[in-house]
Amino acid sequence: MRNSNSPRTYRVKSFGCQMNVYDGERMAEMLDEHGIAPAPDGEDADLIVLNTCHIREKAAEKVYSDIGRLTKGDGRNPMIAVAGCVAQAEGEEIMKRAPAVSMVVGPQAYHRLPGMIEQAAKGKRATDTDMPEDAKFAALPRRRKVGPSAFLTVQEGCDKFCTYCVVPYTRGAEISRPYTDLLREAETLVDAGAREITLLGQNVNAWSAEDDRGRRIGFDGLIRQLATLPGLQRIRYTTSHPTDMDERLIAAHGEVGKLMPFLHLPVQSGSDRVLKAMNRSHTADSYLRLLERFRAARPDIALSGDFIVGFPGETEEDFAATLSLVDEVNYAQAYSFKYSPRPGTPAASMDGQLPREVMDERLQRLQAALNRDQHAFNAASVGRTCEVLVDRQGKKPGQWLGKSPWLQSVFFEGDAQMGDMVHVELAEAGPNSLRGRPLEIVPA
Ligand code: SAH
Ligand code: SF4
Ligand code: F3S
Repeated sequence: MRNSNSPRTYRVKSFGCQMNVYDGERMAEMLDEHGIAPAPDGEDADLIVLNTCHIREKAAEKVYSDIGRLTKGDGRNPMIAVAGCVAQAEGEEIMKRAPAVSMVVGPQAYHRLPGMIEQAAKGKRATDTDMPEDAKFAALPRRRKVGPSAFLTVQEGCDKFCTYCVVPYTRGAEISRPYTDLLREAETLVDAGAREITLLGQNVNAWSAEDDRGRRIGFDGLIRQLATLPGLQRIRYTTSHPTDMDERLIAAHGEVGKLMPFLHLPVQSGSDRVLKAMNRSHTADSYLRLLERFRAARPDIALSGDFIVGFPGETEEDFAATLSLVDEVNYAQAYSFKYSPRPGTPAASMDGQLPREVMDERLQRLQAALNRDQHAFNAASVGRTCEVLVDRQGKKPGQWLGKSPWLQSVFFEGDAQMGDMVHVELAEAGPNSLRGRPLEIVPA
């Protein structure tokens, strides 16, 4: 039952990975369904959902300082829900330390948020960090209007237990969502305006399920089926693990036109000794050979990766191996992080933790190499023609932004609208984006 303390407006603030962005969208849809409206821009909300990330340090501190800011002085007193991976990892602690928090809800339990809000309106605080298998998706409302580029979580959780990582603890074991549910959700996304769908999972390429006749479908099978949806123009996926790659997914990159020529495949380090200590189950060489197979299937494929510098015991020689792997791959873009000890993970108690200065200095060198390659990739794209899916309006009138097939940001001036697929010639390369010259517009 609603009472006078029930929130009328909400705001969801998502941090961390794209899976959190997807979860944040689903929470918003659910709150809408329960008669709570999004707070207008610039106005305070009655309910704030902090959808948190625990991947690197200061995650929890950041949550506490956000809570402090939300409740500081001036009579504001929003209802606060802490969701996401910090909620899962430190739920009890948050409830103890932050009386202003009304509820803590883990990433696999947020379908129960409306019930918790009703309780909170009656003054009852609650924590729900259960991990019921796949229950949340079935309990969520239908998808509503979405932008041209939409996320679809198909797989959750992780069984890989890389020794530095909290995800297996915060997201639970690997599960695949059912095939027919995904086809249905993809159809509703397309009906709701999506022209591109990015399939999400912590180990998205581990997805596998049965079709309605009991036949096993692998991740490539899901992609092939989605490619038959008439309104859908582009398919992407992230993040993959090298161990779960199979021949059929590689082949799909050469065969499915809607599957974009882009692969984000984290490697973390170029040193086999470090990879072993990380429990990554691939070597630098097996990773490089895998990329070769992708390049053979789709010669123009753009490559992306994740790196960690300063893992415990990483020597200068280990780090040099990472730099030489980077030289070999020529990434189109990549993410790189300083190692951050996470409570409860095996690496946090390993010998050989490195001083911050060493990590800073290595990160700078790595990022210089990655930036160099990203600029080179962008510069080499000049003169190419490609389609850009318009997903944002630029600051200047008549300016539009979107992504190339290789996930580069492209801006151009012309007569377009959101969701258009615009044929452009890539005319000029900046460090992080390219200027396009429009040739032809296919209306949304
Ligand atoms: N499931 C994905 C994403 C994991 S999190 C994968 O396996 O790639 C995204 C990235 O954060 C990781 O790839 C890793 O590079 C980085 N990361 C994870 N834990 C970290 C830690 N403790 N310190 C620094 N970076 C970390
Ligand atoms: Fe973390 Fe490794 Fe799982 Fe990725 S594969 S989520 S890095 S444990
Ligand atoms: Fe962060 Fe959780 Fe994603 S820890 S990176 S929000 S899976």
